[in-house]
Amino acid sequence: MSIAKKEYKRITTKTLVDMKKKGEKISMLTAYDFTMAKIVDSAGIDVILVGDSASNVMAGHETTLPITLDQMIYHAASVVRAIERSLVVVDLPFGSYQSDPKEALRSAIRIMKESGGHAVKLEGGKEIKESVKRILNAGIPVMGHLGLTPQSIYKFGTYTVRAKEEEEADKLIEDALLLERIGCFAIVLEKVPAKLAQQVAEKISIPVIGIGAGSGVDGQVLVLHDMIGMTHEFNPRFLRRYLDLYTDMKNAFTQYSKDVKSGDFPNESEQY
Ligand code: KIV
Repeated sequence: MSIAKKEYKRITTKTLVDMKKKGEKISMLTAYDFTMAKIVDSAGIDVILVGDSASNVMAGHETTLPITLDQMIYHAASVVRAIERSLVVVDLPFGSYQSDPKEALRSAIRIMKESGGHAVKLEGGKEIKESVKRILNAGIPVMGHLGLTPQSIYKFGTYTVRAKEEEEADKLIEDALLLERIGCFAIVLEKVPAKLAQQVAEKISIPVIGIGAGSGVDGQVLVLHDMIGMTHEFNPRFLRRYLDLYTDMKNAFTQYSKDVKSGDFPNESEQY
């Protein structure tokens, strides 16, 4: 059991801000279903993100765009049923908040009411300011997401590192300051230069959670299926694989098939 796990019974948005103040790093992983979320929560991971990356890893879509609000709620409710300690943050999917602040609030309320999640995450800065404010005004905690924002992949045209140029880096810093000012409790920074990410983390008092943003931030997030090696074709530099489950699972399935076909399974002790 980690020190953090003993110290904090239940992680709240305030816990995360306190952790930043104390210089304690925040661990965050995605999860989309009950069984995985139970393991992640019991391992003492601080934040579980029900990410719209479910669109990729659970549904096999090329991008995060197709996943619907109903599908996000289904995944989030499954995760919430499993957790005892972690804070559960749920992505507002593409199309559920961009058109106007009222729709954004309606979507966030549906997530909170129907899934039991603890906070929502939205991609973008200045462009979605009014939506973020309206959600916050309703008492719903918001996590921001800047840098590479996968819901805008067709605008970017590529998944390469963002904000390498001064103009985009300046906008990113402005957006981070804005999100802090209007009341977000944390920000995810995805795939930006480590130096810039550190600068942002030093400028704002809310936690900055990085993915491909180096070590100078307040915490790290990875997509669960990538870090346990269930996916094996996605190999960005920032990804550390802790397991090679693709190989282990494939070997297990192959062996099972052999055992069934040879009549080895089930044996005497495996039947009634
Ligand atoms: O959807 C997701 O998994 C995310 C993380 C990559 C931060 O937004």
